[in-house]
Order: sequence, then C-alpha cells, then structure tokens
Amino acid sequence: MTILVGVDGSPSSLHAVRWAATEAVRRRVPVRLLSVCPADAQVEQGHQVLRAAESLAREAAPGAEVRQELRVGLAAALLIEESAAAGLVVLGSRGLGGFAGMLVGSVSSGVAAHGRCPVVVVRGRTLEDPPPAGGPIVVGVDGSAVSDAAVEFAFDEARLRGVPLVAVHTWTDMSAGETWSVLPLDIDYEAVAKDEERLLAERMTSWRQKYPDVEVSAQVVRDRPVRGLLAAAEQAQLIVVGSRGRTALTGIGLGSTSQALLHHSTCPVAVARSISS
Ligand SMILES: Nc1ncnc2c1ncn2[C@@H]1O[C@H](COP(=O)(O)OP(=O)(O)OP(=O)(O)O)[C@@H](O)[C@H]1O
Ligand SMILES: [Mg+2]
Repeated sequence: MTILVGVDGSPSSLHAVRWAATEAVRRRVPVRLLSVCPADAQVEQGHQVLRAAESLAREAAPGAEVRQELRVGLAAALLIEESAAAGLVVLGSRGLGGFAGMLVGSVSSGVAAHGRCPVVVVRGRTLEDPPPAGGPIVVGVDGSAVSDAAVEFAFDEARLRGVPLVAVHTWTDMSAGETWSVLPLDIDYEAVAKDEERLLAERMTSWRQKYPDVEVSAQVVRDRPVRGLLAAAEQAQLIVVGSRGRTALTGIGLGSTSQALLHHSTCPVAVARSISS
C-alpha cells in the first residue's frame, strides 16, 4: 500500500520525504507526496514545494515511484482522511508554523493520534539533523493488543532493513496497573524483575517463530516507560510504540508514553494501531 507523506516545505517535512521515499523502495510501493494549502491563493507555492520535494525523493531513493498531489483544506483533517487508503503516513516533527519552543507540531500529533494506519514522525537529534541511519529497531511492549500491533510493525521493519530488533518492557513499583503482574506492597524486586522477564520472553516466542530471520533481544527495564524507551531509542534508527497502552482511556487518541516519545525521541517514532484503536 502507498506511503503517504505530508509536505509543507519545512526542513522537517523534507526529512520526512527522504525517509518515506527510501522506505517506499524497501517496501516496493509508491510514495505519494501530499501538500495541503489552506487557501487557493497558495496553490502555486504549493506546487513549487511539491516539485522540489519530488526531486529530493528521487535523489534520496532512485527508482522510487513518486506521485504528488495538492489539495486545498485543513492539513490534519485531510491527512487523517487520506490515511484510510495508505499503508503508512510519514510526517516531519515540525512544520512551517508553531513557535520555537514547540517540540512537535499539531498536524503531526493530530495525525499520529487519529490516523487510520501506522504513522511515522521523522525526528533526529535536532530539528535540522537528519534521522539516524543505523542502529536497531526498538519496540515498546506492554502486553496490550495495541502493543502487539507495534511488535508486528517492528518485526516487519527489522526484517525489511536487516537489522536487529530490541523489545523493551518497562516496569516500576508505581505502575502495577501497567505491568502484567499485580505487585504486593512488600515488593521483592528481584522476583518481579524475573517475572517480567519471563512474561516478555513468553510474549516474544511466537513472534520469533514467525520471523526466524530477525535477531531479537529482550530488555526488561525498571524505569518509567517514557524514560526507559527514550534511553533505548538513543541508539536506534526507529522506535515503535502502540497508539495507546494498557491504560487506554476511550476518547483519547494517544497514550502519554507515545505522546512523550513524539516530543522527545532522537530518532523517528512509529505509532502503530490495532484495527479497533
Ligand atoms: N499543509 C500541510 N500539508 C501537508 N503536510 C503538512 C502540512 N502541514 C504540516 N504537514 C506535515 O506535518 C509535519 C508537522 O507540521 P506541523 O504543522 O504539525 O508543525 P508546525 O507547523 O511546526 O506547528 P503548527 O502547525 O501546529 O503550528 C510537517 O513536517 C509535514 O510533514
Ligand atoms: Mg504547521
């Protein structure tokens, strides 16, 4: 299925264009560059931005099948609508608007929260830096159905790229509801850690069988999810999380861990979703 990229001409969206074109060649699918203009008066400028983006895409990924499209309307709404027909949506972390202190733009966080397919927000160490090219794929595993969707996405990416996969599960004494086991008040940390390790290993067994060619390691980290995942992402080329976790509140698009990663990760963040999320 087509990879859809949101293009507003910002440096961050151009990183997204390159990342998406490379991914499209890997997946052998077309890449569709979509620029949304708020009004008819900006259409000519939009076409210019798209032409520049198309040549960047071809340069970054020779052989890519690149299409471009311009629409007039609201960017987040149109991208969410179009995501229903895409296999993946790719966006920059920031756009042309916003203010300096802002970490992720409203289009990116809106589409990541409400898109109908997996959404990748391309990030690097800084806004200007390209995303890291090397390193493993990291996936956050919390045992929820949505995190299973993340695990599947992560295995597919690791296999496509021929890189190792690191499955990370975090737990803390403060987050009994977020772990698989209910913790007693008097906590035997070592026993809990062993338990968590066993549960993560069990969870990964069927995936290892399905993807025998992917090198997998499992890490259980005693830390809060955001800190544990951010630390793991430091070395990674992509971190994959579910749109929501175990403490999913209905009506809220993105869980707090996924949201925090969109703001702070130093590598691209993929937000996967299960059909019902
Ligand atoms: N008009 C648009 N058309 C297509 N894609 C867009 C458009 N605006 C934003 N995007 C996509 O979303 C990414 C993030 O931009 P976003 O608009 O969310 O951030 P911002 O402009 O910094 O802040 P905000 O718009 O919330 O004030 C861009 O890199 C681009 O991929
Ligand atoms: Mg914007």
